[in-house]
Amino acid sequence: MIDIHCHILPGIDDGAKDMIEALALINLAVADGVTRIVVTPHLHFGRFNNYLSVIASSFLALQQAVDNEKIQVELAYAAEVRLDSEILSLLSRQQLPLYGNYNNQQFMLLEFPHSHIPAGSDVLVKHLLKQNITPVIAHPERNRDLLRSPDNIKAFVRLGCWFQATASSITGHFGEECQALSLSYIEQGFINIVASDAHNLKRRPPILSEARSKVIELFGEEKAQELFYDNAYDITDSMFER
Ligand SMILES: [Fe+2]
Repeated sequence: MIDIHCHILPGIDDGAKDMIEALALINLAVADGVTRIVVTPHLHFGRFNNYLSVIASSFLALQQAVDNEKIQVELAYAAEVRLDSEILSLLSRQQLPLYGNYNNQQFMLLEFPHSHIPAGSDVLVKHLLKQNITPVIAHPERNRDLLRSPDNIKAFVRLGCWFQATASSITGHFGEECQALSLSYIEQGFINIVASDAHNLKRRPPILSEARSKVIELFGEEKAQELFYDNAYDITDSMFER
């Protein structure tokens, strides 16, 4: 499996606290069957100012530690970019941490506030798409606007966004409502990728296999292959060329 959303870079957001925890998270992911990980620290303006240079230098240290420990996993980095008009200025300066290239598009993990979808979000999304950047919207099943009005996702589906569901929503860890919405969105074909959104070992671990089993049980092997490997592979493969 490939995990494209997790907070494993140590000490730069609310994920892994230090290198020891980062390595423990990676070991857990590898034991769970993950072969490629894209670490995605929060880039949340004013809260976690993780610009490209900050992420890149933190990533180098992590890669070095993983090499020293001889852990068999491939790593790359992007960011979970919080919706903000600041995105446009980073974009113009080529300072946005993005996923790779696929079908003449670059992909970006985009986070809405959990409480709602701000007015004007579609305008920003359209602007990104015009620049050949496809937003991968993080965990729509946990957004309170969408929990109230699930069909509001369709405006973003029509624009061409991709969607990433959180593994522990599928297994029920975020409650019945998030679980039901994640499964309904998968059933309707809206979800492209499932990722862990791991932050720590206990409460939000980097485990994908349980959600994968659930998806196989409900939707079959082919869907699981698409959500836990194929789509993630497509949009990140160019990042792993060394
Ligand atoms: Fe996240």
